[in-house]
Order: sequence, then C-alpha cells, then structure tokens
Amino acid sequence: MKNEVNKIAKDTNYFLKKFINNQNSSHLIKAMKYGLFPGGKKIRSKILIDFGSLFSINYKTLIQIGAAVECIHAYSLIHDDLPCMDNDKIRRGKASTHIKYGESTAVLAGNSLLTMAFEILSNNNLDLPEKTKVNLIKKLSECSGHLGIAGGQYLDLNYEKKKVSRNQIIEMEIKKTGMLFSFCCVAPAIIKNKKNLELRFFENIGSDIGLLFQISDDLIDYKGNSKIAGKKTGKDQKKGKATLISLLGYNNAVKYCHDLIINTNKKLKKYGSNSKKIIQTLEYILNRDR
Ligand code: IPE
Ligand code: IPE
Ligand code: MG
Ligand code: MG
Ligand code: MG
Repeated sequence: MKNEVNKIAKDTNYFLKKFINNQNSSHLIKAMKYGLFPGGKKIRSKILIDFGSLFSINYKTLIQIGAAVECIHAYSLIHDDLPCMDNDKIRRGKASTHIKYGESTAVLAGNSLLTMAFEILSNNNLDLPEKTKVNLIKKLSECSGHLGIAGGQYLDLNYEKKKVSRNQIIEMEIKKTGMLFSFCCVAPAIIKNKKNLELRFFENIGSDIGLLFQISDDLIDYKGNSKIAGKKTGKDQKKGKATLISLLGYNNAVKYCHDLIINTNKKLKKYGSNSKKIIQTLEYILNRDR
C-alpha cells in the first residue's frame, strides 16, 4: 500500500511541477510550491484512483484530476495554519507557509492554488469532453466553497470551546474534509456520465470516507507523535475543538471509524473484487500514523 501511495504521490508531483513550470513565473510561485511540495501523502489522489478503477478510467487522466484536488487541499492547509485560523507553525515537518513567507503571501499563494485547480481541469491537455470538464469543475467548486471546505472550516472555528451535538460535529467534518473526498469518489462516475442516483451513491460514500479521514486525523492529534505526523499534536484539546473524540471518547471514536469501514464495504460489494482495494485504502487511512 505504501509503495502504491508513494507512486501516486510521485506521479502527481511530476505532473504539477510540469504544469507550474509551463506557466510564466511570478512572485507567488515559490510560496505556492512550498505549500504544495513535498511531504503530502496524496491520499485523495489514491482514493480517486481506486474509484477510477471501478470504471476503468485512464490512469493519466486520474492523476491530472487528482493534481487539481491536491492544489485545493494544499490551499486549505496553508489557510488552516494561519493565525486567524488554527495558528499552527509546523506543517509536513517544516515551517508553515505563513511562517516562511509571511501572512499576506500565504493568503495569496493559497488563493492562487485554489484557482490553479480549475486551470488544470479546464486545460486542453486533460483528455475529456468539454461537457465533462464543466461537470467536474462544477462539482469541485461546490465541494470547495461555502457548502464544502470553506463552510466546514467556518463551523470548525465557530464550534471551538462550545458544546455541540454529534450531528453538528459530523456535519462540520463532512463539510471541511468529507466533500473533497466526495468529489474524488464521484469524479469517475461523472466521467462515465452516470445517472443522478449513482452519482449520489458515490458522493455519500465519499462523505463517509472523508469523515473517516478526519476522525483518524483527530485520533492522530489525540495520540500521535508530532515528529512522525509532521505537525504539532495535542492541539485540538488545547483549542477546545469539537471532535467525536471530545464528545464520545477515544475508544468510541475508533469504533465509529470501524463501523464506517464496515458499512462502506457493504455498500461497495456490488462492484465486485475491485472494491477490495478501496477497503484496503480505508484501513490504511485509519491505521496511519501521519
Ligand atoms: C490533513 O490532511 C488535513 C485534514 C484534512 C485532516 P492530510 O493528512 O491529507 O495532509 P497531507 O497532504 O498528507 O499533508
Ligand atoms: C483541516 O483539519 C481540515 C481542512 C479542511 C484544512 P485540521 O485543522 O484538523 O487539520 P490539521 O490537523 O491542521 O492538519
Ligand atoms: Mg483546522
Ligand atoms: Mg489545523
Ligand atoms: Mg487535525
């Protein structure tokens, strides 16, 4: 599994480097590259590739779409670390982008990575029909804005030091993290022009996988080693973040994750042996230490 994820990370980084090098240079490019490379696990691209294999989608196409997703993810991390948000100084084992380049540059580099995702999806080199590209762009923008990452980040900050319900926590985690996974799970079905019912099926599975990913990130924060994680741990409790761990306790949060995997397994059974890979990836997500 590690080798496979590493290969996807390498291929994604290679594509992104080429894409950026083909653009004219700017003063922001250094900070953008700093936030984008290296050190990210590229787990969202891995999910995209796993789901792509259910529909036999071309690997190169999936890497390009995954690169767009990783740009948005990198932007969200740069902004997540800002003093007005989580105020974290270390990311992926090095100084956060705003520590290295200053706050205003970090904000602007983040904005530029967000828009670069849509440049990648609208690029002529992405070998898909125009209509499909528009559908992918529409879905990815929905998942990134006020109904997705941005909206979820708002709730995350708003819920600090407040008593919030289990459903409120789940809604927040699905928005801030789940929606981008949702995009990765549904993108192959969008490419294959599947009907709304099937699109909804994959979106919902994606939300659950994103929720699993965020709870495991919260578990790493709770119990993990900051050297291995590449970021400070133990910070959620200090900040009074609302998480399923703070609400239900560590063991129940782990149990919740196992149940998510079991349910996803049940739902995906009808896609045959290809779905086995997905379950292995989900176990990797839960058992990772970074
Ligand atoms: C961390 O995401 C932030 C969350 C959404 C929980 P990752 O753990 O995927 O970060 P990198 O890209 O591997 O550093
Ligand atoms: C980040 O969640 C979610 C985003 C959408 C960026 P966290 O705030 O828990 O991520 P880390 O722990 O700082 O990586
Ligand atoms: Mg945060
Ligand atoms: Mg954070
Ligand atoms: Mg975290």
